[in-house]
Amino acid sequence: MSFLHTNSIKNIHKLSIAPMMDCTDKHFRMIMRQISAKALLYTEMIVAQSLVYTNTKEKFLDFNNEEHPISIQFGGDDPKVLRVAAQMAQDWGYDEINFNVGCPSPRVCSGNFGASLMKDPEKVAKCVESLKNSCSLPITIKHRIGVDEYDSFSNLNNFVRHIANAGADRFTVHARKAILKGLNPKQNRTIPPLKYDVVKELKRLNPNLLIEINGGFSNIDESIEALNDFDGVMIGRAAYKHPLRWSEIDQKIYGLHKKSKSASNIIFSLIPYIEKHLSNGGKSWDICKHLINLVEGIPKAKIWRNHISAKSIKKELNIDYLLELTYRLKEIGY
Ligand SMILES: Cc1cc2nc3c(=O)[nH]c(=O)nc-3n(C[C@H](O)[C@H](O)[C@H](O)COP(=O)(O)O)c2cc1C
Repeated sequence: MSFLHTNSIKNIHKLSIAPMMDCTDKHFRMIMRQISAKALLYTEMIVAQSLVYTNTKEKFLDFNNEEHPISIQFGGDDPKVLRVAAQMAQDWGYDEINFNVGCPSPRVCSGNFGASLMKDPEKVAKCVESLKNSCSLPITIKHRIGVDEYDSFSNLNNFVRHIANAGADRFTVHARKAILKGLNPKQNRTIPPLKYDVVKELKRLNPNLLIEINGGFSNIDESIEALNDFDGVMIGRAAYKHPLRWSEIDQKIYGLHKKSKSASNIIFSLIPYIEKHLSNGGKSWDICKHLINLVEGIPKAKIWRNHISAKSIKKELNIDYLLELTYRLKEIGY
């Protein structure tokens, strides 16, 4: 077997911010980029079919230059469609393509993609081959440790080896199985237990494969610890809900000598971006719905968030007001 793909991927991303539908849009990614210059950022899952067969490519593909390194995640099961989507992603300037084999949503699985694809390694291999052959970007895959009754270790190991031979450059393994019958997507992110040992064993048996662990990491120290066993760590909910908790990624994980930004400094640095969004007719809530998560754990944090939310939802938030409230954070050293 020849799954020595370690050299074909340019950067080993030690930490990444997970793809999350309705969360990791370009505005959230801009916020995370103020926090870390290095973490790999992911788009939300984009259904390849929708991208290829609709005329709103900008809506799906648009991102800001500052967001690099950025990976686009595709859902799909048709190698021909994925080929076209991969070419588009490359032309648009993405750094990597990730293929979703982990989403348990009934809507996604009824289209026979997402987590249900783990039951059909042949099809996943064809999709990965097609992605790989149609562009020069690294092709990575995000999957579970199993799905429904397909949850033995040998199944997982065979799946990963098969897909590695098809050309996948990195595996992000959400360390819990997906239960497609009986659990909704939210329950599928909490009820099946996390089994890091299973992923550890996978890495032990396949030392040449790049394996990133995902699921349940809540702070930088836990992530550093996980890097003893895995090539990378992917953070989902804890990054979305508590972005500031990750403000020392670049120093502690990537060894950069720099000062981390406070919440107020992050907001100040985003002001030109927010102004541009508003002047292009965008709504302040598009950005503020993510931004408010920066403020927590200080007196009156909730009041601060409520002020921003209320004004923003009523479309009454202007930059002066945002600046005024942000100076109040700065005054208390936040
Ligand atoms: C709101 C939400 C949306 C998600 N959307 C996606 C998605 O589009 N693609 C995907 O691969 N995983 C998606 N996930 C799963 C996350 O990427 C991640 O695997 C999961 O939350 C476990 O990581 P965590 O415990 O660090 O949150 C989503 C998770 C959440 C909470």
